[in-house]
Amino acid sequence: MHTIVLIPGDGIGPEITHAVTTIIKAAGVDINWIPAKAGLGAFEELGDPLPSETEKLIDEHRIALKGPLTTPVGSGFRSVNVALRKKYNLYANLRPAFTLPNVPSPFNDVDLVLFRENTQGLYIGNERWLDEATQHEAESIAYVTRAASEKIVTAAFEYARKMGRKKVSLVHKANILKFTSGLFLKVGREVAERYPDIQCEDLIVDNMAMQMVMRPNRFDVVVTTNLFGDILSDLASGLVGGLGVTGAANLGDDCAIFEAVHGSAPDIAGKNLANPIALLFSALLMLDHIGENEAAKRIHDAVLEVLANHKDSCTHDIGGKGTTSTFTHAVVQALQEED
Ligand code: NAI
Ligand code: MG
Repeated sequence: MHTIVLIPGDGIGPEITHAVTTIIKAAGVDINWIPAKAGLGAFEELGDPLPSETEKLIDEHRIALKGPLTTPVGSGFRSVNVALRKKYNLYANLRPAFTLPNVPSPFNDVDLVLFRENTQGLYIGNERWLDEATQHEAESIAYVTRAASEKIVTAAFEYARKMGRKKVSLVHKANILKFTSGLFLKVGREVAERYPDIQCEDLIVDNMAMQMVMRPNRFDVVVTTNLFGDILSDLASGLVGGLGVTGAANLGDDCAIFEAVHGSAPDIAGKNLANPIALLFSALLMLDHIGENEAAKRIHDAVLEVLANHKDSCTHDIGGKGTTSTFTHAVVQALQEED
């Protein structure tokens, strides 16, 4: 029996987390879900978007599945996602992108996994005005360390080895950013030497963007710094059908939080229209993480089977005619038919 903190979140969060827990249960994985609150709902009820009770539960269990959280526009509301990444040093953001049957996309052979460094780089937003009075000049500081670069590149190579992948691509801008991106590349090459069984290449980020759009099938595992990873991971999702069908994990040394990359979709919340695939794929990364690889594979295959042969039961956003419930039911049925 595994114990996992479950944060349903806002908007469509409760519907899609319900779908995901139903499917995991049907696959025979025994999970003791500990419900926890975060997001706008938590803020309205308890005055805090990340209540201390939720932090206590994550402190104790070190693993969580999180639905999307609504972030109200305006000040005074800290980003829960950023707070969680910081607090638990979730330094690796893992985002697989693979072609799905019957999901419209320009390619039919994408299968890549992107590792994004989650705690440093330009993305941390260390900015200031050079002249506070006029606000006509600003600067932003990118911060990169040997230790964090080594950790993220090692995570990518370890993953490649564990999952039987052949190649790791290091993505950087070391030709221009010789210190920050240069350090990342230097450390990346050093780490690569420890993995002679895995091919390694490096690409400059602008060339990478073009290559991903023209020949995405040449990529296997990709690792890069925070801001490049932010952009390229959404690009990767776009190659396979968008944010509605891509899962994500935030991993640290002793804590892991799995989440969908889309938002709380307030426009369709409570209408049984939400597509649970993205959160489900995040949950499959979670099952892999806790050693339930066989169940993860079975659910993955069941989803592909439903997409390929029961497209009508899928949700409208991917061209189906069904609902959250009909999709969930179809996946459960596909799991039972396998047995
Ligand atoms: P969104 O991703 O919630 O919605 C964009 C569009 O995609 C909407 O038309 C929505 O209906 C559709 N959509 C999204 N997920 C879907 C799903 N699973 N099934 C079917 N359709 C889906 O982005 P938006 O509207 O910009 O943000 C809404 C709220 O979510 C905001 O408060 C934002 O801050 C928050 N947000 C939270 C994230 C997180 O917690 N990880 C990530 C992105 C946004
Ligand atoms: Mg992003």
